[in-house]
Amino acid sequence: MAKIPPGVGPRHPQVVVLVGASGDLARRKLLPGLFHLCSAGFIPDCRIVGVSLDEIDADAFRALAKAAIEEFFPRKVKAADWSAFAQLLDYVSLAAGPQALNAAVLKAEQALGGEVRRLHYLSVPPAAALPAVRLLGEAQLVERSRIVMEKPFGTDLESAVVLNAKLHEVFAEEQIFRIDHFLGKEPAQNILAFRFANGLFEPIWNRTFIDHVQIDVPETLGLGARAGFYEQTGAYRDMVVTHLFQILAFMAMEPPTALEPKPISEEKNKVFRSMLPVDPKDVVRGQYNGYRQEEGVDPESDTETFIALKCLIDNWRWAGVPFFLRTGKKMAEGQRIISIAFREPPKSMFPVGSGIGAQGPDHLTFDLADASKMSLSFYGKRPGPGMRLDKLSLQFAMHDTGLAGDVLEAYERLILDAMRGDHTLFTTAEGIERLWEVSIPLLENPPPVRLYPPGAWGPKSIHQLVAPHAWRLPFERAWRDPNREGG
Ligand code: BG6
Repeated sequence: MAKIPPGVGPRHPQVVVLVGASGDLARRKLLPGLFHLCSAGFIPDCRIVGVSLDEIDADAFRALAKAAIEEFFPRKVKAADWSAFAQLLDYVSLAAGPQALNAAVLKAEQALGGEVRRLHYLSVPPAAALPAVRLLGEAQLVERSRIVMEKPFGTDLESAVVLNAKLHEVFAEEQIFRIDHFLGKEPAQNILAFRFANGLFEPIWNRTFIDHVQIDVPETLGLGARAGFYEQTGAYRDMVVTHLFQILAFMAMEPPTALEPKPISEEKNKVFRSMLPVDPKDVVRGQYNGYRQEEGVDPESDTETFIALKCLIDNWRWAGVPFFLRTGKKMAEGQRIISIAFREPPKSMFPVGSGIGAQGPDHLTFDLADASKMSLSFYGKRPGPGMRLDKLSLQFAMHDTGLAGDVLEAYERLILDAMRGDHTLFTTAEGIERLWEVSIPLLENPPPVRLYPPGAWGPKSIHQLVAPHAWRLPFERAWRDPNREGG
C-alpha cells in the first residue's frame, strides 16, 4: 500500500450516507472512488450506508457495489480488498423511513467507535434533493455531519434560491459542500498553479495580449441510462452552468489573497458578477439526430444535447475578450480543453506565402483530461533556404513526470476534502445564484434546437458563432505521445 502523506485523510472516523446509492453516478464514480479511498488507506475508519428507492437488502447492495467496482474501477480489484470493503457496506431503502436510517447510522458508528463524523452524499436529481435533506433531518443525522450536494444545484435562479433557503433550515452553510467535480480534476487545479506560481504568464493574462478563449468539452458519450435525468436538464444545466463556468472562473479570476476557500470564492464570485447575461443570440443549441427516439425521451423534446455560446466578462482584465464555450453528447471526439488564443503581432515583415498566420494565432492549451497536458504553440522557421514558417509547439504531459500514478480521481479528491471540512474546491450559494441570474435571458428565450448528426462537432451554425475566429478542435496535429519513439 502506498504511504499516505499526513494531513490528507480525515481526522475522525467517517460514516458516509450515500443517497442515490444505486444510481449512475454512484455506480460509475462514488462507489469505485470510496473503494479506492478505503482500500488505499486514505480513510482508515469508514462505514458506508447506501440509501435509494430500490427495496433491496444489504447483500443485494453489496452485489450491486461489487459489479459497479468491477466495471468502473480502473485497476484490477484484489479479492482481499473487496471483502474488506464489503464489510463496510450497509443499506437502507427510502421506504424504510428515517428511523431505520438513524438505526443503521448509529450501528455503523458503534462499530467504528471514537468521535465519528457523518458525510451525507446526495447523488440525486434536483427534484429529489430537498426530500433527501428532509429525510436526513427527520433521521436526526444533522449533528456532526457535512453534506455534499450534487449539481445541478436548482434548475434556475428561483429554484436555487429556494433550495438554498430550505437547505439552511436544516444544515448550516459551513456543513454544505456543493460539489463540481471539474474543480477536483488535477488539471483544473493546475491552472491555479500555472497562473499563480509563475511570473511568466500572469503579466500577459489579460485583454491586451489575449484575443479570445475557448473552453471546449465535446463528449462522444450518449445518455446511457440517464435519459430521465437528461430530458429535464439538457447540456446547458448539466455542463455549462456548472462545470464550464467554474473552469472559466479559475481561468479568469484575479489572484486571490491566499490559497484558501474564502479568498478563492471571493475572486471566482467577482468573475461571475462581471459576467454579462447570456444573450440568446450568442447561443447555438443542438440536438443529435435520433435523440427523440430514445427510450424515456419525449418524441417532441426540445432538450439540447449540445450547446455552444459566447460569453463576456465585463471587467478591467477581460472587457471585449470573447469566451467561447462548447459541449455536447455524441460528438466527434471526447476532449476537455481550454485554449487561449493570443493576439497576433501588430505588423508582419514575413513575405506573402511564408505561412505566417496561416495556422491561426499562438495558443496556450490546457488539456483537462486526467493525463493533464499543456501546449504552447508558436511560429518558427522551417529549416532550409528562404523563410518559411511552421506552427511548432512546446508540450508538457503529467506522464513525463512519472507521477501520473499519484493522481486522485476528481470525486475521490473532493470526498476527502469534504471529510476534512475543506471548502476550497467547492462552489458557493452566492456564486451559483449569480450564474443562474446571468442565465435568465437564455432560459427564458432559448433559441430553437438545431439537429446535428451523431459524430459531428455540432450544428453548422457553430462556425458563425466564433467567426472570424475558428474552433480550435479538432486539433490540426495530435498531442505528441512521449512514450512513442520520436514523440
Ligand atoms: C457530469 C455530467 O457532471 O459530467 C455528464 O452530468 C458528463 O453528462 C460528465 O458526461 C463529464 O465528466 P467527466 O469527468 O467524464 O469529463
